[in-house]
Amino acid sequence: MVVDRERFSDLICKMLSGKYQTTVASDGLQAVRALQTSPPDVIVVEMSIPGNGLRLAELVGISPKFNHIPVVLTSANPSMDIVLKAKDAGVSSYLAKPFRPSELASRIEQALTEPVVAPEPSAEASPGEQGAAAGAEGAPAVEGAKRAIRDRVKKIDGLPVFPATHAEIMKLAKSENATSEALAEQIKMDPSMLATILKLVNSAYYGLRKKVDSLKVAVSLLGFEEIANLVMSAQVFQGLGGYKNKLGLDLKGFWRHSVGTGFVARSVAKKLQTEAETAFLGGMLHDIGKVVLDRFFPDYYIQVMGLVKGGEMSIAQAEEDVLGLTHAEVGGQLAAEWKFSENLQNVIMYHHAPETARRYQRLVGLVHLSDVICRTLQFGSGGDMLVPQIDSAVMDRFALTEKGLQIFAETAKEDLEAAESFLLALG
Ligand SMILES: [Fe+2]
Ligand SMILES: [Fe+2]
Repeated sequence: MVVDRERFSDLICKMLSGKYQTTVASDGLQAVRALQTSPPDVIVVEMSIPGNGLRLAELVGISPKFNHIPVVLTSANPSMDIVLKAKDAGVSSYLAKPFRPSELASRIEQALTEPVVAPEPSAEASPGEQGAAAGAEGAPAVEGAKRAIRDRVKKIDGLPVFPATHAEIMKLAKSENATSEALAEQIKMDPSMLATILKLVNSAYYGLRKKVDSLKVAVSLLGFEEIANLVMSAQVFQGLGGYKNKLGLDLKGFWRHSVGTGFVARSVAKKLQTEAETAFLGGMLHDIGKVVLDRFFPDYYIQVMGLVKGGEMSIAQAEEDVLGLTHAEVGGQLAAEWKFSENLQNVIMYHHAPETARRYQRLVGLVHLSDVICRTLQFGSGGDMLVPQIDSAVMDRFALTEKGLQIFAETAKEDLEAAESFLLALG
């Protein structure tokens, strides 16, 4: 039970004591801690708790560890808006205050007997579902839980919808008869995107001698794929960024780290003869889960940042401890929901454990490697002070020696200079 007033919690505990064992938490953070140590059969949470009852319900809904636990949400200020948001968060039952004790008891009973409903199967599997689809995990309950998480992630209150132009551009990029004109037409439909692309194309990074003010010329100069990637990363950055935080994630450092990893990944991919442009996008977007958690679960993410401050804990470990899930999991599900290509979904989901990806291990390993190189060279901020180790399986996969790694790190310095001028253009 998560309530912020002692008298109220005493009252409810007394009321339920004959039949149930209760644990009380006074805010969202305490609640997640209690969920980790002794997971309950049902959560009763007040809307007004510090950390926000609805956000706690959302967090439970997107966590692979907790999403099977039903949530009963109570609120003193009922409104249709909250009812709808509660439904999106997967809340089993919503109870407006004041309520009779028997009412709460019957809602708890109902929540305990009805399983948390998994949405209908969707046409496209997320990276976490691919194994199940391939028969590796197979159990329908596991598949249902994964689908439910994906469905909850997309319904996080305030999460931007990925622009329709993205889907069109990705469709175009896949089509064999894509033309520069068709791409230019799509981009023009979003004037702010058009301005961003022209700004980037004219930046020092591309070093073009003449100013380019036509998108068609830009596409013919840089190529279809490069422009499509610029559009996609700019859309993600604009969609997920654009918020301010006083505490929590170092946002400037975060975007530097993302762009830096993209540039390093592209250059490493060329050396290792792997798809360079997908590696670029993978590097750019691998950590998007961090901004989702920082932006929509700020009370929790401030705690994550507090844990990593001492330099003894990795950000993924701190996320697991505070939130019960990691940025890689959230980012991977979001990428699936936003219909990123399957290889990109795998990069985002598995970049901290590349060999656990069931497909595209080469690309995932490459972004993992570039992420660590970027962290080692301290370009931007990965969020914590610990530079992760390169997975030994990745070293083996690319037959990398310590010396080879040093050479990569040396060239990466040049890539990061390029990333710097790109960042300058982005403003
Ligand atoms: Fe990461
Ligand atoms: Fe990273």
